[in-house]
Amino acid sequence: MSDRLFIFDTTLRDGEQVPGCQLNTVEKIQVAKALETLGVDVIEAGFPVSSPGDFKSVVEISKAVTWPTICALTRAVEKDIDAAAEALKYAKRKRIHTGIGTSDYHIKYKFNSTREEIIERAIACVKYAKKYVEDVQFYAEDAGRTDNEYLARVVEAVVKAGATVINIPDTTGYCLPEDFGKKILYLKENVKGIDNVVIATHCHNDLGMATANTVSGILNGARQAEVTINGIGERAGNTSLEEVVMTFKSHNKGIETNINTQKIYSTSRMVSSMMNMPVQPNKAIVGRNAFAHSSGIHQDGVLKNRENYEIIDPKDVGIDENSIVLTARSGRAALKHRLNVLGVELSQEDLDKAYAEFLALADRKKDINDDDILMLVGKSRGEKARISIDYLQVTSGIDVRSVASIGLSIAGEKFESAASGNGPVDAAINAIKNIIHRNMTVEEFLIQAITKGSDDTGKVHMTVSYNNESYYGFGANTDIVAASAEAFVDAINKFVR
Ligand code: KIV
Ligand code: ZN
Repeated sequence: MSDRLFIFDTTLRDGEQVPGCQLNTVEKIQVAKALETLGVDVIEAGFPVSSPGDFKSVVEISKAVTWPTICALTRAVEKDIDAAAEALKYAKRKRIHTGIGTSDYHIKYKFNSTREEIIERAIACVKYAKKYVEDVQFYAEDAGRTDNEYLARVVEAVVKAGATVINIPDTTGYCLPEDFGKKILYLKENVKGIDNVVIATHCHNDLGMATANTVSGILNGARQAEVTINGIGERAGNTSLEEVVMTFKSHNKGIETNINTQKIYSTSRMVSSMMNMPVQPNKAIVGRNAFAHSSGIHQDGVLKNRENYEIIDPKDVGIDENSIVLTARSGRAALKHRLNVLGVELSQEDLDKAYAEFLALADRKKDINDDDILMLVGKSRGEKARISIDYLQVTSGIDVRSVASIGLSIAGEKFESAASGNGPVDAAINAIKNIIHRNMTVEEFLIQAITKGSDDTGKVHMTVSYNNESYYGFGANTDIVAASAEAFVDAINKFVR
């Protein structure tokens, strides 16, 4: 008999906290629906007290999603719990996730408190949440650095107070797999009432061990894994859903999940594209190279028998090597079909916009693949910006100084300028700065090709600092200088109102 492992997805809460990954409510609903189709058990939809936007997203996701439990995060604070309960009003299945830091670092430096007081606060928040919902999950923040004896006392107290799920986060990504597993086992063996609740793992990846720690926790008795798509999350990220799910699918450890693994790849692409968060090419399971065999020996081996070098059939995670590539001759219906396969449903108006963008791209690029399509959807979904680029012309080359001339529309008014620079991107940015006179600096600048080929679309991620704040900008174009200018203007649109 197999044991069921519950998959708790926190892409829309812990994942969305990453600078530049913020989604609007409509986008969050799309991701939530994709997670439902993927088969996750719980969707952590947000932290309602943190902002009106987060509150609204939890409300709307609760209305839009049927099967998964919708979970809302709180601190151990009554007004947080009130907000979470209100935001979850429409959820068919609901859970409040409340908790407090339990490590000595948190007790002393974050709360200026004592161990006994923290236990009292933990009990109080669980009891308060219980007034609203039956399903209350408690997190012991920084449990990874909390000593096991004290952690067991906290856990026993909150189980007694009515918690249904106990979350043991390795908040700082500090633990070693063996120690994290022992921590879960210690709780299993030393906490009264622990068999009546589910223990959850929530591991961060600061030392690159989030998945190893999660797997170790599960092998020692945890039955809920807290994960994100592509492992996105604060700093080095969270445990990635696809790694945990495919680990237990590949190893017969008597653990099963409800995940439809064939939906993993499309969900990964969708989240990466919507959150403007590239997936590293060598990322396990979903990276572009995860199933690419380049050495002659490996290619020969795979051709003789796939299992010589592949432990997972790419089809099991939804990678269809024969997937249709769209071209300039593809119709609107083909685009709509491909979008549906990728889990994206558009209104007629947005589909028309995406199709117009698609035709424009197909004029410049022969084959349009899934990443291009998702990038186009992102563009047509964007709200009308205050500043937009009318045209950009650049001359550059070897042993010449680059020169750019640009036309911008700012709230409907037209502006033009020209400037030189040490390269075409520098020239284009200087020309934009001649029109928008703000003291702004490009802090980070990343250019990435989506797939391969010299006609490929380039994606640009940029961080611009202004007034001691950082603003994220994104651009995508077959011309990387144009994509860079788009990313710069996208960032500026976030602070020029
Ligand atoms: O990493 C962490 O400790 C968290 C908690 C709020 C669950 O995200
Ligand atoms: Zn976290």
